[in-house]
Amino acid sequence: MIFKSWSKKYKDIPDAVVVEGPKAGGHLGFKVEQIDDPDFALELILPEVVAEIKAFEDLYHRTIPVIAAGGIFTGADIYKFFKLGASGVQMGTRFVVTHECDANIRFKEAYLACREEDIEIIKSPVGMPGRAIRNSFLKDIAAGKKMRFKCAWRCLKSCDVKNARYCISLVLDNARQGILDKGLFFAGSNAYRVDKIVSVNELLQELITQYQYAEEKGAGKLKDEYEKVLEKLVALKEEYFIDIKEGLGSLVDEYERGIEKGTVLFREEYLKTMDKINSLKAEYQNAVDKANLLKAEIVEMFEHYSLFDKLQIEGTCREPCR
Ligand SMILES: Cc1cc2nc3c(=O)[nH]c(=O)nc-3n(C[C@H](O)[C@H](O)[C@H](O)COP(=O)(O)O)c2cc1C
Repeated sequence: MIFKSWSKKYKDIPDAVVVEGPKAGGHLGFKVEQIDDPDFALELILPEVVAEIKAFEDLYHRTIPVIAAGGIFTGADIYKFFKLGASGVQMGTRFVVTHECDANIRFKEAYLACREEDIEIIKSPVGMPGRAIRNSFLKDIAAGKKMRFKCAWRCLKSCDVKNARYCISLVLDNARQGILDKGLFFAGSNAYRVDKIVSVNELLQELITQYQYAEEKGAGKLKDEYEKVLEKLVALKEEYFIDIKEGLGSLVDEYERGIEKGTVLFREEYLKTMDKINSLKAEYQNAVDKANLLKAEIVEMFEHYSLFDKLQIEGTCREPCR
């Protein structure tokens, strides 16, 4: 929305974007019911924002870094969000517990001492939910206590000053100064995982080492995946050749069966023809036999007539013999 409206109004866009997920510390840009809803997890909303920004990058021929924030604790987390399209990360909680952080030592000790169940979602007077460490101050507020204060800043329009039981700016500053009973200790959802105060240099070294390890592991995973794909390809190739071989084999079989069928048909035709020839032969033989019989009869008849003629000549028979 900011990009669209800036683009329309000013023909310009922001230089960078921070996508803060629901695991962050402090005020959260989510409704209470969205905070634990997996649909609003940073892992899901970050790639969506990266995709939306892409269109503006193309339009303005500029690179807009998208920075992921909220619950990022280790170098492996940084690697994960880089893989999801982030160009950088914004980390709060881990840097609170460094020597260089200018908050009071009691603020840092509150982080070291807290357990997971001590980190809660509060309803801030400015109308937003916030994540903080439960302490005596928050318990008093939950029990209905009201703090006397005079609004010095009117820092946020959305703040309901009249009905607010405390001034958010005041109590946050109290926490920074280590005033435990009047301080609100904002913290990220992973604050309970911090176990010692380190220097920024140590923290960065730790994050870099973890990042590199995750990267190597990621590369190893990619290599494994690649090898699996290769294996699959080889198997597919084999299957393909088996198919071709079998296909060819069955084609050859079919072809041979065709020839066989043809041969059988031919044989049947041949036998039929031979039968015909044989029956013709038999007929012919019959005819020959008949002819021979007839010939014999004719010869006999001829002989008879010769005899008759002879007798006629000699005067013994007056009519031809039958
Ligand atoms: C003690 C504390 C105070 C914060 N105050 C602000 C603030 O005033 N404005 C803001 O936009 N974010 C604030 N944040 C949020 C951080 O800027 C950051 O985005 C967030 O803490 C990142 O999550 P992480 O703490 O899990 O690393 C605060 C965070 C912490 C822990």
